[in-house]
Amino acid sequence: MVQANPVSQTGKLKSGVKAPVQETLLTPRFYTTDFDKVAQMDLSADDKELRAVIQELKADYNRHHFIRDEEFKQSWEHIDGQTRLAFIDFLERSCTSEFSGFLLFKELTRRLKNKSPLLSEAFEYLARDEARHAGFINKAMADFNLSLDLGYLTKNRTYTFFPPEWIIYTVYLSEKIGYWRYIIMFRHLEKRPDYQYYPLFRYFENWCQDENRHGDFFKALLRSQPQLWDNWKARLWARFFLVTVFATHTLTVLERANFYKSLGIDARQYNIQVIEETNKTSARAFPVILDTQHPAFMSAMERCSNFNLQLKLLDIKYSNRPAIFSVFKFFHKLPLMIGVTWYMLRLFIIKPIDTEATRQQVH
Ligand SMILES: [Fe+2]
Ligand SMILES: [Fe+2]
Repeated sequence: MVQANPVSQTGKLKSGVKAPVQETLLTPRFYTTDFDKVAQMDLSADDKELRAVIQELKADYNRHHFIRDEEFKQSWEHIDGQTRLAFIDFLERSCTSEFSGFLLFKELTRRLKNKSPLLSEAFEYLARDEARHAGFINKAMADFNLSLDLGYLTKNRTYTFFPPEWIIYTVYLSEKIGYWRYIIMFRHLEKRPDYQYYPLFRYFENWCQDENRHGDFFKALLRSQPQLWDNWKARLWARFFLVTVFATHTLTVLERANFYKSLGIDARQYNIQVIEETNKTSARAFPVILDTQHPAFMSAMERCSNFNLQLKLLDIKYSNRPAIFSVFKFFHKLPLMIGVTWYMLRLFIIKPIDTEATRQQVH
């Protein structure tokens, strides 16, 4: 099992401004898409549901939620050592992914303004929420004398192009997995307040309802596009995105076991619970979900994670060696890369659960 925690030392661009984490496959990404294709979407198949969700977003239930209370006004120097580094890493990753959502939603708002006013309005509410979330976390980072340079990040990050269909699958999943991540952490700390070493966690209960509503919006969008759930290709895509999102989650949680330990959370149990709940929730949107109870499922996820951790350690080991060592590095990494591919494939071929057949019971 993964024990090590290769959380890097805090790097700074200039005093108090944190250098963004090194970009790897697992760091939160910045996305762009085909805006014209989104504008041309026919929403009539789920128009009623979409309008209902947009009304919920418009209500802005959390408009007074993200206000820092008295408990923040103190020194946080007593959070030190590994706990401090792991917590800052958590803040940085969370802030980057909230900000990534904001940028995508803001751009969708702008580009759809005249072509698809209903969607533009929805994305405006989503951007509003993500800006609040990112801003709130950035203020928390200031308590540790750091802030993420969001302007620098906007200009210097590379943007990954995803077609609208992929955006809908992945953002739906990331909103729902975000909901479960926050609420499970909140419920645990509610029972064990002795582990709540910083007040941010107290905000997660209402915060995660924003993510839940964002997920509901993407669910309505997905169901309004029958080609995203009503054919064999959609079934394969749904499986693919479930496997990749859950595998990524496993890797990021298990390699940060120390952070979860600092909150009194067992990283393995937490990962399993988040995956199982998100998978069950996805039955409302996706034509298939994964069989997380299959005896090979979790072990394959964790083996992927182990291989990935070893790959990361090799990157660190070879980082300061001369270029000639890249050949050794490649052959050193090859069996590990084959291992990751093999177990991803193993996960993909486990027979999924057909949710369309049971949709009546799910609703
Ligand atoms: Fe968010
Ligand atoms: Fe969100």
